[in-house]
Amino acid sequence: LMERTFVMIKPDGVRRNLVGQIISRFELRGLKIIGMKMLKMDKETAEKLYAEHKGKSFFEDLINYITSGPVVTIVIEGDGVVLLMRKMIGNTDPKESPPGTIRGDMAITKSENVIHASDSPEKAEKEISIFFTEKELIKS
Ligand code: CMP
Repeated sequence: LMERTFVMIKPDGVRRNLVGQIISRFELRGLKIIGMKMLKMDKETAEKLYAEHKGKSFFEDLINYITSGPVVTIVIEGDGVVLLMRKMIGNTDPKESPPGTIRGDMAITKSENVIHASDSPEKAEKEISIFFTEKELIKS
């Protein structure tokens, strides 16, 4: 089943110079990157991306963190890539993420966990549309 997913290297990942190592993992795995851009999110965009967390205790901290510096947004296409990317990044809490996963190898705290990936194909399409126009995505 052909799918697309939205992946984002968060500000701590960019700040810690992990961008190359993370993208390397996608390339090593043979994943197909069809869109990529670096940007600094404004508050409105951040609140749109994390709308489902509005009202939660950590919401304000999350918005401040995610807008604190540039992020790298990436669109990946492939068979079953939504679940595959979730497996590659690991659990939300890096302490619950096994070694070999991106968070298990590169992160330690739940709030600053280096990377985001969509949790369903529906969410992926929604998140992609926040950051990319269809024209910006490579068509095979
Ligand atoms: P992610 O799963 O990519 O998207 C929601 C983010 O909210 C999550 O990564 C964390 O960065 C953050 N988050 C989720 N739960 C907590 C929590 N309990 N405390 C702080 N941050 C959290």
